[in-house]
Amino acid sequence: VCCGIKTDPVPDEMLKQVLQAAISAPSAANTQPWSFVTVTQPDLVEKVGEYLIYAQKKFVFGKIIGLSEAFTDHLSRLYADFLNVPCFIILCRNQRVKLVPDEYQDVLRDWDLCSLGGAMANLMTAATALGLGTRWFGGPLPDNRGQTLKDMFSIPDHVEIVGVTPLGFHDEPLKDRPVQPLSTLTGFKRKDKYSLAALLKGKVALEDVVHMNQF
Ligand SMILES: Cc1cc2nc3c(=O)[nH]c(=O)nc-3n(C[C@H](O)[C@H](O)[C@H](O)COP(=O)(O)O)c2cc1C
Repeated sequence: VCCGIKTDPVPDEMLKQVLQAAISAPSAANTQPWSFVTVTQPDLVEKVGEYLIYAQKKFVFGKIIGLSEAFTDHLSRLYADFLNVPCFIILCRNQRVKLVPDEYQDVLRDWDLCSLGGAMANLMTAATALGLGTRWFGGPLPDNRGQTLKDMFSIPDHVEIVGVTPLGFHDEPLKDRPVQPLSTLTGFKRKDKYSLAALLKGKVALEDVVHMNQF
């Protein structure tokens, strides 16, 4: 399965702990440019799950990666457990401070996206430590920058959706990911389902991405 998450509810205390880890992340000038929408009400969770499967199929697999319809249908089955997860967390950029003049707003956005990446990574690491599974989802962004989700949850115009993750207990113990050769990444061919499958499998070795003293 895609995220391997059980239907059991996440205790409130655990939800609070992962969110606390998220908001402990560093941020540019400590502006803490985040807001979160937690979705635990079953009818809303189902609505989000259905929507994410649609977004994955239509935008990520279809328009952006450009997979065939048959292969997209096949892969979409991997996301079926999204309909039964107990919780989704929507990560939003909400810059409350006018830190920089208008001409540097794009720099601020870059900084904010880095800060939000840190928040999400903290959230996911804390979740893993508590036996909870997550999966970072960017699929709603190509849908008019997440407008469908914004409408669903009355998210104000100035707030930007950055990612979504399900949250719930793992249905099996975590396995180590295999080490893959760098050529899996560098030789990736768009629209080739075999190279895509290889790409999604493992992590490259440390020595392939770390340069000592000189790139
Ligand atoms: C910014 C970002 C966006 C992502 N968007 C999607 C997505 O739309 N759909 C999806 O299935 N996975 C998405 N992922 C998850 C990645 O596919 C996943 O992290 C990657 O395959 C590595 O697997 P691992 O997280 O299990 O190591 C996203 C991850 C990141 C960091």
